[in-house]
Amino acid sequence: MRLLYFVCWILFERSAHCKQLSPVILVPGDGGSRIEARLNKSSHGPYPFCDQRTKDFYVIWVNIASVVHPVPTDCLVENFRLVYNNKTHRTSYPEGVDIRVPGFGGTDSVEWLSDTHLPKLGYYHELAENMVKWGYVRNKTIRGAAYDFRRSPNELEDYYTNLTKLVEETYNMNNNTRVVLLAHSLGNLVILYFLNHQNQEWKDKYIRSFITLGAPWGGSVKALRMIVSGDNVNIITVTALKARPMQRSMTSSAFLMPTNQFWNKSEVLIQTPRRNYTVNDYQQLFKDLNFTDGILIREDVEGLVNPLRPPNVEVHCLYGKGLNTTAKWIYEDGAFPDKQPKHLDEDGDQTVNIRSLEGCLPWKHLQKQPFYSKAFQGIGHVDILNHDINHLGIRGGVDNKGIQRGRIV
Ligand SMILES: *[C@@H]1O[C@H](CO)[C@@H](O)[C@H](O)[C@H]1NC(C)=O
Ligand SMILES: *[C@@H]1O[C@H](CO)[C@@H](O)[C@H](O)[C@H]1NC(C)=O
Ligand SMILES: *[C@@H]1O[C@H](CO)[C@@H](O)[C@H](O)[C@H]1NC(C)=O
Ligand SMILES: *[C@@H]1O[C@H](CO)[C@@H](O)[C@H](O)[C@H]1NC(C)=O
Ligand SMILES: *[C@@H]1O[C@H](CO)[C@@H](O)[C@H](O)[C@H]1NC(C)=O
Ligand SMILES: *[C@@H]1O[C@H](CO)[C@@H](O)[C@H](O)[C@H]1NC(C)=O
Ligand SMILES: *[C@@H]1O[C@H](CO)[C@@H](O)[C@H](O)[C@H]1NC(C)=O
Ligand SMILES: *[C@@H]1O[C@H](CO)[C@@H](O)[C@H](O)[C@H]1NC(C)=O
Ligand SMILES: *[C@@H]1O[C@H](CO)[C@@H](O)[C@H](O)[C@H]1NC(C)=O
Repeated sequence: MRLLYFVCWILFERSAHCKQLSPVILVPGDGGSRIEARLNKSSHGPYPFCDQRTKDFYVIWVNIASVVHPVPTDCLVENFRLVYNNKTHRTSYPEGVDIRVPGFGGTDSVEWLSDTHLPKLGYYHELAENMVKWGYVRNKTIRGAAYDFRRSPNELEDYYTNLTKLVEETYNMNNNTRVVLLAHSLGNLVILYFLNHQNQEWKDKYIRSFITLGAPWGGSVKALRMIVSGDNVNIITVTALKARPMQRSMTSSAFLMPTNQFWNKSEVLIQTPRRNYTVNDYQQLFKDLNFTDGILIREDVEGLVNPLRPPNVEVHCLYGKGLNTTAKWIYEDGAFPDKQPKHLDEDGDQTVNIRSLEGCLPWKHLQKQPFYSKAFQGIGHVDILNHDINHLGIRGGVDNKGIQRGRIV
């Protein structure tokens, strides 16, 4: 069955009797929220060509110019990185940079990563368009919960407060109808953490189900490259090494590292001539990278959803499989860490390894609430949203090969 029909079927199955659509809140993945910045810096910093001040907020993510031109990429990296404080274990923005996530509650900022609605920068747009055909109404029965995807759940307190209100408001707006949470990729870990910290009474009252698309329940080997060498996510004009400081600074990168619930100490994830690294060697890895804050960041985030605990709401766990997905990064002589590695592949959705996608399966027996799962053969991590390649910019991470357009609808 095609994915969108499947989502449609899930949404309508039990509400057909009650003439009331279950409202849906869309939660994006890594790189999937539009983000705005305002600058008022005391100096230009290392790059004299970057703006020092802006009159107002502007779209920093995704701003197509800053992704395709080398010069603005430097400015993006300089302004869009996080600054980690190793005493408070919290991140802040660089001096003089203010950040906001626009349009919380509305769908626009999760449908489109750019305010100009560039077709290549669509995210949940295709899904939302289809839902409208099924009778859904934007901002009423479809809502969006964008967030700062650079941060991990331990720093999303304000977001979770807003999300709780949004769920309650959406329930009330729709004649006391329980709400479906639909998330993609990293968004699923963000929602799992949220549900793990809500009391059962609240969940029973407000949540109808949790639809998970392509969730990296146990992290992904692919994410390791962002930290070690940087990842240009297949945008030719972006240099991986330039993107690396930004990717390292995002605590969600460390949050997405493979977890010891799904990988063991005999499996090499990063191979170099001098040393191999497994899931047990992250401390050593960060030391060898001279990125010692990484040790603390990983410690901060590694237990947030590990070991996985069931959300105790109805779950529909959907994912793609049957595609080559990095199992191990191999650095040849002199390549570690500043040159791009080769890779060995295993099964997965091109971004997330199959064992991690299937991490939800034990919940069938670990929670009372219904649990359903379905794997879609040959559907990639981003294709599962049915939209185009490369729109996830710096962080999406899809290979050009194997992308087949329009496979879902
Ligand atoms: C910009 O920063 C300067 C000093 O750092 C401050 O005096 C000024 O009020 C700030 N401007 C705005 C618009 O916030
Ligand atoms: C924290 O950061 C400071 C400044 O970068 C450094 O001198 C110190 O060693 C760090 N502490 C830890 C525990 O990493
Ligand atoms: C949805 O709400 C946002 C504000 O949250 C608004 O900007 C947007 O125009 C609304 N969209 C529709 C279709 O009503
Ligand atoms: C939470 O909602 C408030 C009020 O709408 C908004 O100003 C703030 O930016 C939101 N914060 C987050 C993290 O979503
Ligand atoms: C709201 O739900 C009640 C009880 O299920 C139903 O009688 C009523 O018609 C519904 N109202 C709307 C506007 O759908
Ligand atoms: C580690 O994982 C591999 C591959 O899944 C498996 O063959 C091996 O038995 C495991 N080793 C341990 C010690 O659990
Ligand atoms: C790293 O692992 C590979 C294969 O897993 C092995 O052949 C190699 O000897 C290991 N290298 C080191 C330095 O342990
Ligand atoms: C880390 O720092 C040491 C000492 O300054 C240096 O020899 C080494 O090359 C650095 N490693 C990396 C990966 O930058
Ligand atoms: C995966 O990679 C192997 C080796 O490169 C190739 O033979 C195979 O066709 C690929 N599989 C898919 C589904 O792309």
